[in-house]
Amino acid sequence: MTHRDFLSILDFSSAELEALFVLAERIRAKRYTKKPLAGKVLAMIFQKSSTRTRVSFEVGAYDLGGHALFLSQRDIQLGRGEPIKDMARVLSRMTDGIMIRAYEHAHAEELAEYADVPVINGLTDLSHPCQILADLLTVRQFLGTFEGKRIAWIGDGNNMAHSWIEAAQRLKFSLRLACPEKFEPDPVLIATARAEGADVTLVRDPREAAEGAHVINTDVWASMGQEDETNERIQVFNGYMVDDALMARAASDAIFLHCLPAHRGEEVAESVLEGPQSRVWAEAENRLHIQKAIMAVLMGNEPLKPYMHAKKRARPAARASARKKPTRRR
Ligand code: CP
Ligand code: NVA
Repeated sequence: MTHRDFLSILDFSSAELEALFVLAERIRAKRYTKKPLAGKVLAMIFQKSSTRTRVSFEVGAYDLGGHALFLSQRDIQLGRGEPIKDMARVLSRMTDGIMIRAYEHAHAEELAEYADVPVINGLTDLSHPCQILADLLTVRQFLGTFEGKRIAWIGDGNNMAHSWIEAAQRLKFSLRLACPEKFEPDPVLIATARAEGADVTLVRDPREAAEGAHVINTDVWASMGQEDETNERIQVFNGYMVDDALMARAASDAIFLHCLPAHRGEEVAESVLEGPQSRVWAEAENRLHIQKAIMAVLMGNEPLKPYMHAKKRARPAARASARKKPTRRR
């Protein structure tokens, strides 16, 4: 059986990514009522904690007519040393797709190599592609498009930064990252993206990255698995907090994004996270819509072609709507 995986943003072409956004926007607007996962089951393997990823995949699978299994490493034989390649073949015979949140990216790749069903990267130490698709969906929602926009990444050159770089390789926006020395993203990813024509710049000074940006984006300074380095990182990242002074350097209609969970008073000031330019709650909600689009396509045989070059109907959401209480999903 042929299937495709989603381990990296680069697994989709530019046109396919565009189509995924259009599909996710139809889902968000409740103009997609199909149940492409009817009778299907997603296995979700978690080696690390999660709120948004777990809930968006689980609720998303249910909404599409399917079911999701939460498999914590603590409770499955993986935690006792069962090889990934064995688990891949067992789960392939019982389920229709596997999502994995892993430490080592190589484990997600090994799973994909041995599985006969689609494998989705729900975050590894290397990348977090589902989150970046949700972030780009949020940029489209509030700024109308990400084409020609300037996106600033402030802080650690981590898994999120890597997926932003890969997105810049596929899509037409400018990415400027401000990271301290020794905490830069993988230089190979930057070089590859640039060789493909991506507009990616690495600077040291957060103010330089923020200047005129349309999107200011940050993440925790110590990612999952780096908790031991927290105190050291707080010293290193001193000066990298996204605060009102940094936001003031961005474009007047700039939005603030954070994948969450956030550490208020470290990488972001409370006043920014809770302020009028913050779109973090819509960003979190967009995880649900984009996850459904990904599952519909990879597991539910939803073709992407009809969504390619589709006219975008929705106009950018008004500023006020970001503060509006969400309506019930259904
Ligand atoms: N942003 C994100 O992936 O959140 P969780 O760790 O809660 O899944
Ligand atoms: N960089 C963070 C993202 C959490 C969603 C981490 O890996 O912990």
